[in-house]
Amino acid sequence: MDSIIVRGNGPLSGQIPIAGAKNACLTLMPATLLSEEPLTLTNAPRLSDIKTMTELLSSLGAEVSDLQDGKVQAMSSHNIDNHIADYDIVRKMRASNLVLGPMLARLGHAVVSLPGGCAIGARPMDLHIHGLEALGAEIELKEGYLHAKAPGGLKGAEITLSFASVGATENILMAATLAKGTTVLHNAAREPEIVDLAKCLSAMGAQIEGAGTSRIEIQGVDRLHGATHQVVTDRIELGTYMLAPAICGGEVECLGGSIELVGAFCEKLDEAGIQVEETKTGLKVARKNGRVKAVNVTTEPFPGFPTDLQAQMMALMCTAEGTSVLEEKIFENRFMHAPELMRMGAEIEVHGGTATVTGVERLKGAPVMATDLRASVSLILAAMAAEGETVVNRVYHLDRGYERVEEKLGNLGAHIERVKET
Ligand code: UD1
Repeated sequence: MDSIIVRGNGPLSGQIPIAGAKNACLTLMPATLLSEEPLTLTNAPRLSDIKTMTELLSSLGAEVSDLQDGKVQAMSSHNIDNHIADYDIVRKMRASNLVLGPMLARLGHAVVSLPGGCAIGARPMDLHIHGLEALGAEIELKEGYLHAKAPGGLKGAEITLSFASVGATENILMAATLAKGTTVLHNAAREPEIVDLAKCLSAMGAQIEGAGTSRIEIQGVDRLHGATHQVVTDRIELGTYMLAPAICGGEVECLGGSIELVGAFCEKLDEAGIQVEETKTGLKVARKNGRVKAVNVTTEPFPGFPTDLQAQMMALMCTAEGTSVLEEKIFENRFMHAPELMRMGAEIEVHGGTATVTGVERLKGAPVMATDLRASVSLILAAMAAEGETVVNRVYHLDRGYERVEEKLGNLGAHIERVKET
């Protein structure tokens, strides 16, 4: 397995391009299953999770080709000759469950493996199942697979989610585009990736109102057609790289970023004493003087502070002045980066879903282990400002969500290199 070596150094400067959103792409790609006509996505990120989704769609009979350096994906689901999403692919990535809604809507049946255990919590699928059942699907769990069918076709319904799950909103939204009649989804997730999915589905001929609010109304249509859609900017990659100058000092412009994608996060940066300025081309972030101030953070569904930036924010708080309390409200067991940061000299106490971080003047390099996608990048950020050398092992997690991380951060002046497994 590759590892990444980081040598802590001083202020960063320059520009960093932000890629298209991984999480948007992972729901836009299955949307191709809703139509016989081709769907083209531009601004797609080059990541191993995207390859996994390509593998899954291909296993179902879809054709997926990368054009122009992998940034454009052309997909055709003209022939879907398999309706089984196999455990061997699904277990690699939970987002594989997003083929369930589209397959059910297009084919009237689907068999999708349950994703199984996940490092950051149980992550069940009950909300997806209840929503699709409300649309008329019959779903049974047999030998680890969800067997879903809709013999009479899907029919529009009023659905209220007990929690604003991103994945459940996406699966129900996609399925409802081809259902008969009107679906109203209450307490829908409001993440920008949902808005992006609705935009793409609308370009394919779907009739959707209210995406981005907690009430989405979908008028079912008989068929969807092909479209070309540009993937929205990745707000998690954006927030991650905004933290690089916040942690190391200096000034960096994140190209393609905008405040509306990271509003709650920017409020916390402001409280901590980091300057964020909107430019014509993105967001400029600077830490010009002294240590940052400790701030308290609670993760929430959008527009709240994203759980996917909690680990990276903890890396910033490790060297802040004072004590900060980070509360994780979306996933249980999402503090696995804390013991690794403690190996670097951080002072952190974890009790259930709460981590208390007392800032130290400087962290010290150490060998550490990446435990999940966002945890791994938090270790890299922490290492960039630490004294000495840090070796981050098991970086395959990182490649799931960050493209060319060492090149992008290296261009800002960070000392970071990948050591390939021999
Ligand atoms: C998506 C993101 C992930 C992000 C998360 C929360 C993708 C590919 N992934 O994941 O990066 O961290 O949103 O912003 O977009 N839950 C249930 N039952 C369900 C569904 C979810 O109890 O049927 C629970 C989960 O266990 C979790 C919480 O709801 O505790 C949030 O899950 P959800 O919003 O569904 O996240 P994902 O779509 O899996």
